[in-house]
Amino acid sequence: MESSNTQDLDGNILVTRQLKKYYPIRRGFNPFGGGGNRFVKAVDDVSITVPRGKTVAILGESGCGKTTLARAITLLNPPTAGEIIFDGQNITNGKVDYKKIYREMQMVFQDPDSSLDPRLKVRQSVAEPCKGLLGRDQAHINSLVMSSLTAVGLSSEQAERIPSHLSGGQKQRVAIARAIAPQPKLVILDEPTSALDASVQAQILNLLLDLQKNFKLTYVIITHNISVAEYLSDLLVVMYAGNVVEYGPSGSVIAKPRHPYTITLIASAPIPNPWKRNLLNTEIKGEVPSAINPPSGCKFHPRCPYAEKICSDQAPDLREIAPGQFVSCHFAEKTA
Ligand SMILES: Nc1ncnc2c1ncn2[C@@H]1O[C@H](COP(=O)(O)OP(=O)(O)OP(=O)(O)O)[C@@H](O)[C@H]1O
Ligand code: SF4
Ligand SMILES: [Mg+2]
Repeated sequence: MESSNTQDLDGNILVTRQLKKYYPIRRGFNPFGGGGNRFVKAVDDVSITVPRGKTVAILGESGCGKTTLARAITLLNPPTAGEIIFDGQNITNGKVDYKKIYREMQMVFQDPDSSLDPRLKVRQSVAEPCKGLLGRDQAHINSLVMSSLTAVGLSSEQAERIPSHLSGGQKQRVAIARAIAPQPKLVILDEPTSALDASVQAQILNLLLDLQKNFKLTYVIITHNISVAEYLSDLLVVMYAGNVVEYGPSGSVIAKPRHPYTITLIASAPIPNPWKRNLLNTEIKGEVPSAINPPSGCKFHPRCPYAEKICSDQAPDLREIAPGQFVSCHFAEKTA
């Protein structure tokens, strides 16, 4: 199975196996010299599965590696090690049709302001990626552009505007239209609503649900917001310092988190307006771990109220603690 290019994924459109993305630290960055073989371990051994037609949310503090993981999966920043199996094909062994992969896996970037060219009209922005991916049939591209703009609720008049003449919600609609225009199978959305007001946020979330149904899309949604994850996702992946620490059905993980980090995240967010349960505002005691010299053993041990000696000696495996719920903690049974 490992050596084959085509693989049976058992209903999953995407599987990652021990995916790593390390950024080398350049010499110039280190005032004491050296650093030739030091790395920022942004994503460190991540294995996830994404079922076809479902939504997987990736949750975690700033800097835990969410965007890096998304960029590695989409091969925008190819991984350092590990495997990515997409739609039955190993796309990390170099023997792939990159154009097909770039068309079938689309990403909506974290900040629409920086991902939309300020000089291009909406319809040009949406057409841009299609040109490289779908060839020269301009009539076909125009038809895909106009149908995706209609699908996200933008008018033909709005299609002629430049981004500075759009609201935040409309810009995000353009970014989504651009992602769905090439008719992808998987869309990865990086913080799709974090910059929006609560009412606009709800409109975009509902739009995403409609699009998923109408176009049979699979989503990976990166978010700081537990309520967004709860509303949209079927499965939840909780990341800490480049690792997956908990993974399972979203309802079960949110109702009964079992990793001490997830417990702390969810416990520290019980405020009256659920749409504001934003992890950006969550304070967890202790220092955010260094991605260059992470703590030994379990990376959460310096901040964990349950830590014992074994925790700094030995990294815990991801184990199934409840049906479908996997937790990487030596004492996961105690926290339940
Ligand atoms: N190009 C890069 N070169 C070196 N280090 C990087 C690079 N991109 C990201 N990093 C580092 O990798 C780690 C993970 O960053 P990443 O942007 O993936 O986090 P994130 O979870 O998306 O954070 P946020 O929620 O703030 O968007 C951080 O320590 C970051 O500084
Ligand atoms: S392994 Fe130890 S330090 Fe890590 S989360 Fe579990 S109890 Fe805490
Ligand atoms: Mg990010």
